[in-house]
Order: sequence, then structure tokens, then C-alpha cells
Amino acid sequence: MSNPVFLALDVPQIGPAKALIDRVKAHIGGVKLGLEFYCAHGPHGVHEIAHMGLPIFLDLKFHDIPNTVAGAMQAVHVYEPAIVTVHASGGRAMMEDAKAAAADGCKVVGVTMLTSLDASDLSRTGVEGTPSDHVMRLAELAHTAGLDGIVCSGQEIKTVRRQWKDGFFVVPGLRPAGNGVGDQKRTVTPRQARDDGASVLVIGRPISRADDPEAAARAIEATL
Ligand code: C5P
Repeated sequence: MSNPVFLALDVPQIGPAKALIDRVKAHIGGVKLGLEFYCAHGPHGVHEIAHMGLPIFLDLKFHDIPNTVAGAMQAVHVYEPAIVTVHASGGRAMMEDAKAAAADGCKVVGVTMLTSLDASDLSRTGVEGTPSDHVMRLAELAHTAGLDGIVCSGQEIKTVRRQWKDGFFVVPGLRPAGNGVGDQKRTVTPRQARDDGASVLVIGRPISRADDPEAAARAIEATL
């Protein structure tokens, strides 16, 4: 992928979503459609965006029993996504079946720990250890299950890359210098994540909520 930036299209209306892509498409490498987009616009919305010609990252974070996740993975072949996410905490069998059901060439990546969580959130969910321990544990499980890579924060990417040299690593929670963090907690700059080994940089609000999204996307591209 020449431009690693995937725009997180967490936008509630399809018209403004398409207009936003038109404005920034020269400065991004693909579009990430997540839960908010899919719940609001469904299959029709995904097709509409896919027809705009940029690679699609379907971030539906599947998390269910292996049979259900495999069925969902088969159902999304129709969108020809470049990347699809499952939750790594769904376990090894679920990830193996998800990968087996994915289309050829589609990267299946395991979400480890949401970038909106920090160490105290993690301990409240009953998980022992630091965010880095937790991410490393789930990365190893995803690797063993045959996934292409994982989603983690920029704070863990360097360590994970050392253990999984040819992995495909998706990093959200990115904030260019001077941007507010919002609900994200484990943030780094896009450049830092790229230098530390990220394959894909997921960026939403720093572009979509900027006064001038095109200028924001261009400025981010220039730092990479
Ligand atoms: O607006 P912002 O740049 O924070 O958007 C980040 C995007 O990445 C959101 O669409 C969110 O769902 C997604 N994401 C995340 N943390 C993860 C996985 C995905 O923030 N671990």
C-alpha cells in the first residue's frame, strides 16, 4: 500500500461521507467503514463507498462463536474488502475459522485492546498485567491462529513488530501534534506509528472533523 492512511468514515450521513472522500482522496490510501457506518447505511452504503474506487477496510470487529463468525466472513465477500477485523479475544478457533472463510487476498486482522482503554480500564475488565502484556498475548494467539496481523495502539507496535516480523499491523488512535485526543487514550502521532512499523494508519476525526479536511489529510501525508 503506497499511502498507509485509511480514513475512518465514522460519519452518520452518506452524502457528506461521499463528499468527504472526494475532498481527501488524493491524500489517503483507503477508507475504513466501521460499526457506526454499517449500522446507519448497511450493505447499500458499503457498495456506494466501494464504487468510489478506494480500497475498503471493513472494521466490523466480529466477535462470536466460530461458526457465526465464519458465516459473517463469507457474507462480506461481496464487498471485496481489503481488510476485515475480528476480536482476537474471540479465541483461536474463531480466528482460524474466520481466516479460512475469508476471501483470497483479504487481510484478516485481530483487534487486541481498544485504543480507548488504558491500564485501569483493563484491570476493571478482570485482565491481569499491562496493556502491553495483554496486546502481546493476543498478538501471539492471532499469529498462531494464522491471521495476517493485529490492530493495536502505536504504543505497542514496536514491541509487537519485534516478535512478529512479517505481520500486518493496523494502528488507530492516531493524533497529529496539536490535535485533541477525544475518547482515545493510547495515542501517538501518525509519523511515530509509521516509524515504529505500522502497516496501516487509521485516522478519523483529525481529518473528518477538521475545518479543512483536505488540508488536514495533506498535512498528515506530508509528515509520513
Ligand atoms: O476518530 P479516530 O481517529 O479516533 O477514529 C479511530 C477509528 O479507529 C474509529 O473508527 C474506531 O472505531 C477505530 N478503532 C479504534 N481502536 C481500535 C480499533 C479500531 O479506535 N482498537
